[in-house]
Amino acid sequence: MSLTSLFLFFIFLTITSSSLGLLISSNSNTTHTPRQLRVDYYAKSCPQIEQLVGSVTSQQFKESPVSGPATIRLLFHDCFVEGCDASILIASKPGSKELAEKDAEDNRDLRVEGFETIKKAKEVVEKKCPNVVSCADILAIAARDFVHLAGGPYYQVKKGRWDGKISMASRVGSNIPRANSTIDELIKLFNSKGLTIQDMVALSGAHTIGFAHCKNFVTRLYNYRGKGQPDPNMNPKLLNALRMYCPNFGGNSDIVAPFDATTPFIFDHAYYGNLQNKMGLLASDQALALDPRTMSLVQDFSKDKQKFFQAFAAAIDKMSLLKVVRGKKHGEKRRDCSMHM
Ligand code: HEM
Repeated sequence: MSLTSLFLFFIFLTITSSSLGLLISSNSNTTHTPRQLRVDYYAKSCPQIEQLVGSVTSQQFKESPVSGPATIRLLFHDCFVEGCDASILIASKPGSKELAEKDAEDNRDLRVEGFETIKKAKEVVEKKCPNVVSCADILAIAARDFVHLAGGPYYQVKKGRWDGKISMASRVGSNIPRANSTIDELIKLFNSKGLTIQDMVALSGAHTIGFAHCKNFVTRLYNYRGKGQPDPNMNPKLLNALRMYCPNFGGNSDIVAPFDATTPFIFDHAYYGNLQNKMGLLASDQALALDPRTMSLVQDFSKDKQKFFQAFAAAIDKMSLLKVVRGKKHGEKRRDCSMHM
């Protein structure tokens, strides 16, 4: 399929799904390995936990494939802000002065399909194992399922997280990277979470699936760094294809483009090969192939899928243990993931 027809397909997909109401809704963490987190944490209290979540993720994957990237991104945005405690799922209280995390500016583009997946999984789990399983564990399991369903590595998820009691929009901004973050900023942020440069490059490989809105890369197409020219580090074919759908002014703000124009629904290592061909979508993606601290990792992962899979599995395991909440003092087990107990 040519790049142009690929894009037409995605534009179609976006518009059809939006009209069905399905698509596009709009500190200091320290790493420590929580002692009690275990793969078999629910062996007695809910031995079928993985199957219960799996029944929902496999259904969602079939019926609404965008649930995959949506849920993986949800885990990332949860873990980077005050740890993996499902605080991202809390709905803002009407009339309250402080909004919840999910309503922070940087979380506006998180798709509803991710939230819906966790809601459905929680309902299924609650029927069989009431009051036992945290939303935070369900989110970590669901994200792993989608990585695997899309063709990525399978890894065991350690469980035993509790859900957090705090969710504040004001805590989001400084903890979430931006499309135009520099490599210096990215390294600093990931290091502050106890993640290495290799973890960061591997985790960025999650952009092998999913989509981004025009606003996140439009300056690269027309006015890179305010110079009135496109980004010289963007492949001209990609540039022309993206310009067709993302005008400089007045475009449809719902339009999205695939991160990986070659295999956008497959979790593979094509993302890294694309970066080497200047086919990165965000400036922050492309920068990984240009900076001396990250370029050799991009090269390694582009050549060796297994190496990427191993590094990704290790890094996401690490990320999903960030600042985990344990016990009643700081945590809760929510029945409805969007509401504190
Ligand atoms: C390295 C710094 C990162 C930056 C600057 C970044 C930025 C972004 C941006 C701007 C979007 C597009 C949002 C939109 O327009 O709707 C996006 C989407 C996405 N991000 Fe990242 N991200 C980063 C790292 C990560 C990590 C570590 C993961 C997960 C492990 C991740 C997973 C995803 C996924 C799966 C999507 C697609 C979501 C969808 O299609 O619904 N990202 N990211």
